Amino acid sequence: MTTTITIRRPDDWHVHLRDDAMLQGVASYTARQFARAIVMPNLTPPITTVEAASAYRDRIMAALPDGAAFEPLMTCYLTDNLDPEEVRRGFEAGVFTAAKLYPAGATTNSDSGVTDVAKIRGVLEVMAEIGMVLCVHGEVTAADIDIFDREAVFIEQVLKPLIAEIPSLKVVFEHITTQDAVRFVEAAPANVAATITPQHLHINRNAMLVGGMRPHAYCLPVAKRELHRLALRRAATSGLPKFFLGTDSAPHTRSAKESACGCAGIFNAPFALESYLAVFEAEEALEQFEGFASLHGPAFYGLPVNEEAITLEKRDTGVPETVDAGGEQLVPFHAGQTLGWTFAG
Ligand code: DOR
Ligand code: ZN
Repeated sequence: MTTTITIRRPDDWHVHLRDDAMLQGVASYTARQFARAIVMPNLTPPITTVEAASAYRDRIMAALPDGAAFEPLMTCYLTDNLDPEEVRRGFEAGVFTAAKLYPAGATTNSDSGVTDVAKIRGVLEVMAEIGMVLCVHGEVTAADIDIFDREAVFIEQVLKPLIAEIPSLKVVFEHITTQDAVRFVEAAPANVAATITPQHLHINRNAMLVGGMRPHAYCLPVAKRELHRLALRRAATSGLPKFFLGTDSAPHTRSAKESACGCAGIFNAPFALESYLAVFEAEEALEQFEGFASLHGPAFYGLPVNEEAITLEKRDTGVPETVDAGGEQLVPFHAGQTLGWTFAG
């Protein structure tokens, strides 16, 4: 039986580190396990300029212990009126690694997002020209589309036309939740990839709704029915380089989650690797873990792989009911459960 796993240090290709006190509380959880992370720009106000991204990057580094070996990879929040030259300038200066497309109103702090992809055509053409990755929150927002169908409809209405119109654009379809998304990405050219979160590999929509409403299992896109979870597990463990790790760790205070209108987001950063590894073990695919966690993402982004290694040991980790984040109590993913692996650094 395998008792330890040593792999190149992984990266998190999608994380919310927030700002101010929350940033102080959560940043080190991500930096403990990952060498780099694609940091989401949905602050209030969103990160839409090179200067704002650069200042945010400095605040992230200041929130970490001195000498922490962690590199935040910054993203630009796309709006209807963003100047394509701002995006080019940020990418060429090494400040922006990617740009993020939030359909307006799709999720937390997305009100200034894009109302129609046609409006950002100029930005997308510049991104294709310079080889900059577009990260996509893939859900339509039309009120008449059922929330469980919003990802599948997005593929038809937005992604397929987008990829047909700008075929060389590098696109990461983020936090995919459906079999439809898996099939779409598998069939798409090599410049289209997807990230998968731990929660969408572990839970289906019953976890949110059976036996009471479970706000800590609520995130966007919402978990779907079981057949979709199984398709995601097959994709993540397949060894295909199109699928890689992106936690979408999205902390909200306990009171903001346990509310009449609870916020979307699952805080999975503290035990992210233990959570993913449990899936690879159950799927008898431990040999595919390093590709998913540490190799496919850098290859897609055109970045070097990390040189250092990390080890996970086959011994139990008890996940606490809450974790301290700078004095704020946050409820982590898997709260109160036991995971069979322990991150040993
Ligand atoms: O569940 C989510 N939370 N999904 C998102 O897309 C945004 C995130 C957040 O920022 O809280
Ligand atoms: Zn997210």
